[in-house]
Amino acid sequence: MHPDEPEPPSHGSLQSLDLYRLAKTLIPGGTQLLSKRPEMFAPEQWPGYYREARGCEIVDLDGRRWIDMSIMGVGACLLGYADEDVTAAVIRRIEAGSMSTLNNPEEVELAQLLVKLHPWAEQVRYARTGGEAMAVAVRIARARTRRECVAFCGYHGWHDWYLAANRAPEGEADRLKDHLLPGLDPGGVPSKLAGTALPFAYNDLDRLAAVVGERGDELAAVVMEPTRRVDPKPGFLEGVRELCDRAGAVLVFDEITSGWRLALGGAHLRYGVAPDVAVFAKAIGNGHPMAAVIGRADVMQAAQESFISSTYWTEGVGPAAALATIRKMQRVDVPGHVASMGNRFRDGLGEIARRHGVAVRFAGHPAITTFAFDHPDPLALGTLLTVRMLDRSILSGSGFYATLAHGEKHVDGYLGAADAIFPELAEAVRQGDVSARIGGPVRHSGFQRLA
Ligand SMILES: Cc1ncc(COP(=O)(O)O)c(C=O)c1O
Repeated sequence: MHPDEPEPPSHGSLQSLDLYRLAKTLIPGGTQLLSKRPEMFAPEQWPGYYREARGCEIVDLDGRRWIDMSIMGVGACLLGYADEDVTAAVIRRIEAGSMSTLNNPEEVELAQLLVKLHPWAEQVRYARTGGEAMAVAVRIARARTRRECVAFCGYHGWHDWYLAANRAPEGEADRLKDHLLPGLDPGGVPSKLAGTALPFAYNDLDRLAAVVGERGDELAAVVMEPTRRVDPKPGFLEGVRELCDRAGAVLVFDEITSGWRLALGGAHLRYGVAPDVAVFAKAIGNGHPMAAVIGRADVMQAAQESFISSTYWTEGVGPAAALATIRKMQRVDVPGHVASMGNRFRDGLGEIARRHGVAVRFAGHPAITTFAFDHPDPLALGTLLTVRMLDRSILSGSGFYATLAHGEKHVDGYLGAADAIFPELAEAVRQGDVSARIGGPVRHSGFQRLA
């Protein structure tokens, strides 16, 4: 961010919007991640591309500065963008060579640190992204048990084992719609995988017990986040543990989003239930690709009964970033800070919404807050809020992922803006002209094909 940067352009013809239009002709779907599509925020208005990102501040391609009060790199940067300790460790590794014929020693040091933080775990494998790490975990579970079915709840990535759920038998389409993302099309996933991915709802132990009752002897794994939107009901995680033990299935906790936000080392440590395998990605590298699959040695050893191997899983930046990230999280109380910022955001926005008579519903843990309007067209009202926040140089969507880089001034800045915007939202609801005020299309709620 240079002090002598030219004056940023106002809304209008923007490189960022032009580039996204071009991208959609060159890149099917426009971006590599659904959640980064501008259509998920405010189509034709959301700045699609950035030039620099530091702390919780972003400079977009047109030189405009934004405070990010949205999803912060989709949860990848829990310490904030370009954290200086992580950046320094990464630069050291890059300058010393991030790839060679030999292996990087950081991956062993990181394995030692991970098993120290997770006394139930003894061994570690690595990948670089969440979805592939989940695919590794499922492969290990299948190799270990010599079984094929996976019971799951929640979202776990794009791989065949998971999307197979939408290759449902007996015409039950979109079984994934209650698992974070509606409308996921399983095109390209072999129909022969139908019936191998069996969904159950979080906190519904009876449903999982029924799945185990029906398919227990085919069950390789139970795959779930230890928490996402709510805490487990008393006895739920313990009950899942017991069902896995009874069925001989591997219990896999996906800590890709929950991990490190709610407790150092992952949410399962807070709840005191040990899985057989846990998977970390996103925040573990604070913006640098890194993922870890950790587990009990007798389960992890099944990795040797399959072929699980990839060139770039051996590069050195990911482990260097993860070591620096975790060490910083050992020094600083990140879960305490993000809970406090999340609560401040939620309490403040809830109070503003009540005062202006616009009903807002919150969900998720304070550190990963999502919200929606209680209105016949919640997406339109949400888009209007996003657009008005853009007028105030704030990136705001339908959720706030608090990070170490967010301070009270950022949250209070957002709340001040909300206080100025909500009278118009209330007025728009009264007049019934929410969509007309947006100045562009309403945002999407899930997976849609882009024109
Ligand atoms: C719980 C969970 N599992 C898996 C994934 C997939 O991770 P990635 O996008 O890195 O492939 C995500 C991403 O949002 C996630 O939240």
